[in-house]
This record gives sequence, structure tokens and C-alpha cells, in this order.
Amino acid sequence: MTALENDARNAGAQVGLDANTLTIRGGRPLSGRIEIKGAKNLVTKAMVAALLGESPSILRDVPNISDVQVVRGLLEVHGVKVSEGDEPGSLRLDPSAVESAHMVDIDAHAGSSRIPILFCGPLLHRLGEAFIPDLGGCRIGDRPIDYHLEVLGRFGAVIEKLPSGIRMSAPEGLVGAKIELPYPSVGATEQVLLTAVRAKGKTELSGAAIEPEIMDLINILQKMGAIIAVDTDRVIRIEGVDRLEGYSHRALFDRNEVASWAAAALATNGDIFCGGARQPEMTAFLNVFRRVGGAFEIEDDGIRFFHPGGELKPVVIETDVHPGFMTDWQQPLVVALTKATGVSIVHETVYEQRFGFVDALVKMGANIQLHSECLGAHHCRFGQRNFLHSAVISGPTELHGADIEVPDLRGGFSHLIAALTAVGTSRVSNVGIISRGYENFLTKLEQLGADFTIEN
Ligand code: EPZ
Repeated sequence: MTALENDARNAGAQVGLDANTLTIRGGRPLSGRIEIKGAKNLVTKAMVAALLGESPSILRDVPNISDVQVVRGLLEVHGVKVSEGDEPGSLRLDPSAVESAHMVDIDAHAGSSRIPILFCGPLLHRLGEAFIPDLGGCRIGDRPIDYHLEVLGRFGAVIEKLPSGIRMSAPEGLVGAKIELPYPSVGATEQVLLTAVRAKGKTELSGAAIEPEIMDLINILQKMGAIIAVDTDRVIRIEGVDRLEGYSHRALFDRNEVASWAAAALATNGDIFCGGARQPEMTAFLNVFRRVGGAFEIEDDGIRFFHPGGELKPVVIETDVHPGFMTDWQQPLVVALTKATGVSIVHETVYEQRFGFVDALVKMGANIQLHSECLGAHHCRFGQRNFLHSAVISGPTELHGADIEVPDLRGGFSHLIAALTAVGTSRVSNVGIISRGYENFLTKLEQLGADFTIEN
């Protein structure tokens, strides 16, 4: 056990999982090597996909994060046997005894996760019914599930609203459909994939999301026996099959975690090697990182991100669906932009309320103004609807330590970076949220030379 883990345990906090408040002494560069495991936003869906198999699945490079524990708990309440695989960091998922679960048990395990909505397709195929409680997720916008319900209805699911959630049934089974998404929603695309692969007949999905995590889920489904084609125009065609088998798969790396540590390297004048990172999934991020003044070196086993010296330069960023600049990448990078010489603009087009985290940065001395206008090349869904979804960051400003509270997962990591960057001491509370998506982040911070202590 590292000294940090020992401290954490003495402080009554499991490393990264229960730690509530960190006291961080900022102003030190983060330098060293960390290893990046499987992507939170793929691994959680791959675990759900195992429900579709008539035999056990093996998933490798599973990160030790609380979102994975949530899905493990939800699978187990449905009778799926989940155990450690032969390789460290792997899971064996055996769905042979899958059964219905009670809403109260689902709710107890779901916590703030939105993942239960993706159980519906597989459970309707296996059991003919599914229940989902009212869903949570980070408070970064409304997070509706209308696309999901619309899609499931198109496959023939009967949807019944209950006081505490939704009951679904498929008395006639599920039949392939021609579906067009109003927006390339990642979750709705996953919903279609997880339902169509075992539906009767063909499904055509237009306006699909094609994020790397979606493509890796398609790889998994194809290993199971599915027939899926992705066209260049975001149309995905699936031919339903009668039977799927378990898969053996090594998960795609977590590009959101890589981007977060890269932003930390830039903001703290550091030098971080992310083992397991790959260039193809990071192209849009690497271009922006270079334009801001960061430097990177692509190796066979990962990517080195470092501050090469000199001033950081302002940029104009517009988040978008893949292959654009990912919405989850902007929060950590904004901290580095507070140190850029000039005015940067971030137009957030995926979520309507994803700048809540900037309040803490302003409290620490950043000069950031939010606007409801679309300050970018395109007008997005949130223009003129009073959503403060464009940020103007003027720099350079020096951040000073402050007491701040983590608002959500990615905003929380930007709070860590801000405290590590600031001159002086900060107390960052509610850090447990960060363990939803960042494996052993306290140990990694220690490995990279951060100066902090854990309070209860
Ligand atoms: C996934 O969320 C990710 N989460 C998000 O990462 C990521 O930011 C997002 O995709 C976009 O890439 C997981 O995979 C668990 P969407 P998801 O459906 O699927 C609207 C993180 O920090 N919408 O693509 O929920 C929605 O409101 C998280 O790891 C509807 O209107 O995202 C949003 O404006 C944050 N109705 C837009 O679509 C619906 O039924 C994109 O949402 C569904 C979505």
C-alpha cells in the first residue's frame, strides 16, 4: 500500500472512492508516467452488452471506477454472475441465469447513473420486460431520455410510465425499424445497437453517433455474432440475428482521461506520459493542444504531453460530436486557457449547461464570462434559449488558492487542475465524484508529484 493509500485509509477514506476533501498546495508541475485503462463510456456499455450473449463474456482493461461498480451491481441484481477474470483488471460476465429485478433494487444500485436505460433492449429480448427508475447523471443539462423511449417504441416495446419510473414489455418480441435520430446522441445510438442486434429483421439508423466508444461497442457486438455496417454518412445498418455468444475484448483506452491529464500537464508546466493513449482517437484534441502551445510525442505505448515553455496562446473551440472536439475535453482545458495570453472562446454545443465549473475558477482569479449567444462558427440548439453555453476566457491570469466544491465529473477534474495550478493552498471538497470516471486518481496525483493531503 502506498503512503497515500495508508493516509487515506487512516483518514477513513478509500483511495479515490470515498475521499471527500483534499487540501492541495498548488504551483508544482505534474511530471511522470501514468497508465490509462479502458474507457468509462465504453466499458459500462460493454458490460450491458454481455446480457445479450448466450455464453459468458470476458472484458479486459476494466478501470477501477465507481461507474463500473454501479453497472456490476445492476447486472448482479438481474442475476448475472460477475467475477474477476484471469487477467488483472478483467471481468467475467455470465448472463446464463438472468432474471427480472425489482425496481427498488435497480434504483438502489443505479444511484445517479443513466446506464439503466441501456438495459432495456437486452432485457426485453431476454425476459420480455424491463424496469427503469427515474434516471440521474451529472447535472450538465436536462439529460432527457426521449430519444431512447422513442427508439424502443419503434422496435415494438410497450412503455408504461409508473410513479417511480418506467415499465417496458415486448409481448410480440422486437422488430427491426428505420430510425432517424434528431441529434447524433451517443446514448440513443447505443440504445439502437443493443436492441437491433437481436430484433427480427433489419434496422437502419440515420443520424447516428460514431464516437470511438460507439465503434468499439460495434466491434464487441460483431464478436458476439452481430451483423453491423457503418456508412460514411452516419447511417448504421444492423441485421438482427437469432443468437449471440459471449465476447472476449480488450476495451478501448479512455480518451477523456488522457485529455484531462494532458490539460493538467499544460496548466502546471508539467510533463505527463499517458501509457495506453493512442493518436487516432485523440486527433481533434492534439490539434487544439498544439495550437494552445502544448507539445506532445506519440510513442507506440502511449503519448507524452508537456509544456515546452513560452506563452500559452488563446484559441476558439467549438465542441461537437465525433470527429469534432469532444464536449468532455473542454472543462480541464479551460483551466490552461486562463493562463493563455489573450482571449479564448469555448462554444459548448452538446450540453446546454456545462460551464457550472467556471464559478470556482472565477473565485480563484480567472477572468471568464458566460454568454447565451452561440459564439462559434455554427448556431447550435441552445442559441437564444437563455442557456449560458459560450465562455470567453481572458488571460493570462494567475489563479490563487480557494475553497471550492466539485460540481460534476469533468468539472471536478478541472477543479483539481485549478487547485494544482493555483499559487497557494486550496481545499477541494466532494472529490468522491471524480472516482466515478478517473481510476485511482489520488495515487496518480501522488505519482506525478502533486502536494496534497486527504481530509475526511
Ligand atoms: C455520453 O452521454 C457520455 N456519457 C457523455 O460523457 C458524453 O459527454 C456524451 O455521450 C457526448 O459525447 C456516457 O457515455 C455514460 P448524448 P449521453 O445522448 O449518451 C441530448 C462523461 O463525463 N439528448 O450524446 O447521455 C442530450 O441532452 C459524460 O463521461 C436528448 O435530448 O449523451 C444532449 O444535449 C458526460 N434526448 C445531447 O443529446 C435523449 O434521449 C447529447 O447527449 C438523449 C440525449
